[in-house]
Amino acid sequence: MATAITYEGKAKILTPTAEAGIFQVFFKDDATAFNAQKRGQIRGKGEINCTISSHLLQFLQNQGIPTHFRRQIAPNVMEVQALTMFALEVVVRNQAAGSLCRETGIPLGQELTPPLVEFYYKNDRLGDPLLTPDRLRLLNLATPEQVQTLVDLAQRVNGQLRCFFAECGILLIDFKLEFGWDDHGQVILADEISPDTCRLWLAQETDPVRRVVDKDRFRHDLGEVESAYQLVLERVLRQ
Ligand code: C5P
Repeated sequence: MATAITYEGKAKILTPTAEAGIFQVFFKDDATAFNAQKRGQIRGKGEINCTISSHLLQFLQNQGIPTHFRRQIAPNVMEVQALTMFALEVVVRNQAAGSLCRETGIPLGQELTPPLVEFYYKNDRLGDPLLTPDRLRLLNLATPEQVQTLVDLAQRVNGQLRCFFAECGILLIDFKLEFGWDDHGQVILADEISPDTCRLWLAQETDPVRRVVDKDRFRHDLGEVESAYQLVLERVLRQ
């Protein structure tokens, strides 16, 4: 059974609607980083992320990838299908950045061929640790068949989004996805896809600070956070 719980996360609030199996997601302006050790607000972020996510989820849906997206009902509110969520974050990396560089010493920006697909345990108390295949099995967070489906879907999403962003003049460096399953057991893409959950670099810009148009501007106090999110919105909507 798909669960119907009201849930408040760091960036969104989920509430059930009168229609069975349909939730509303309210996107907040609140921003957190480093497992909520850094907190702030990004003006207009809720509306921007809701609109970018709606556009990208609709696009992926049109490409045959099942998503929880139903419709955007307000600038910062999306209607979605209720799902039972995997306690997993699936990260896809096309170029090295963030924790991969920090934890392995691989240089920033190095191309990763084929792209990496990684699983993290979605657990704030434990700091969302990276999982090995054995730990994933041990924790029973997904069946082997579901893990294979998650990898396949993550790779397909990456293929589609990479091309989409390339058309926008933006490099998709890495991103995080979350998935759930419906009452029929179908694995479905959920959550959001936005500058909060992706690393995005301007393709024409070589300056390592100016090229960043994602949450790293907030994480590392690079300034011009709102205008970076706005730029991504404008380019996504132009597609
Ligand atoms: O921090 P790390 O380099 O592992 O992040 C990889 C990608 O996943 C980045 O695009 C980051 O924004 C995203 N991510 C996320 N939510 C998390 C962890 C990572 O959206 N809890």
